[in-house]
Amino acid sequence: MKGVILAGGTGSRLSPFTRVINKHLLPVGQFPMIYWPILRLRDAGINEILIITNKKHINSFIKILGDGKELNVKLFYEIQINEGAGIADSLLGAKSFIDEEKFIAILGDNIFKDALTPYVQAFLQQEKGARVLLKEVKDLSRYGVPQLDDEKKRIKSIIEKPVHPPSSYCVTGIYLYDKSVFQFINAIHPSIRNEFEITDVNNLYAKENDLEFDILKGWWVDAGTHDSLYKASKYVNGEKTVEDDIN
Ligand code: DAU
Repeated sequence: MKGVILAGGTGSRLSPFTRVINKHLLPVGQFPMIYWPILRLRDAGINEILIITNKKHINSFIKILGDGKELNVKLFYEIQINEGAGIADSLLGAKSFIDEEKFIAILGDNIFKDALTPYVQAFLQQEKGARVLLKEVKDLSRYGVPQLDDEKKRIKSIIEKPVHPPSSYCVTGIYLYDKSVFQFINAIHPSIRNEFEITDVNNLYAKENDLEFDILKGWWVDAGTHDSLYKASKYVNGEKTVEDDIN
């Protein structure tokens, strides 16, 4: 299976650093942020990884990561032409790299403890569709939040940044997709905030009853704000555990 890491966007919540540095190259513990999802993929046996980022930042990524040899992976690069046009827009850039295979996509600001192997295996056994990983969090209005069925077995739909969250889980930025994802991306329209939303894509899978999920066991952080970036460093340095708080 191949992996894709999305590392574009504007990083506006981490200004002023992101005026000159791409968010995913800021330090988390002893490494640039993007090292962590790369290492999680590598540890699950996923060695071919595509990084998608903005044109103005791609050379910085190549300078730091090169072809991936230092980390024992093979890295490939792609530019998101419409900078900030949304996660789904960015993912479309992976189409030729992925071809027809099932794959895993990770948002480059998602830092987490769990090994990916069991989730990847479960997805390989899933006949078709997509699989997302959930995490119980406090600040639900920052995220995509799933509405589960009564038996908590299926995701009925996902609401992006809900005012009234339908559950206590967020959909993390770890997504497993089959080849239908590219058709679904082409079928969606820009949202109110003018982005092609990954939540709209996931909702198309949910509508077909093809969206499975697992719940992450360890800590998980979306390191896209100053507070959570600090928290991510504490987690990777082992100074904080999931028992300390639920995000
Ligand atoms: O972290 C989990 C959350 O990530 C999910 O719960 C939400 O459903 C999902 O929409 C996303 O929400 P965010 O508001 O955190 O997304 P953000 O705009 O911060 O983008 C997350 C990552 O996606 C970021 O690390 C870079 C990448 N990205 C984003 C945009 C908008 C791109 O590569 N291109 C883009 O155009």
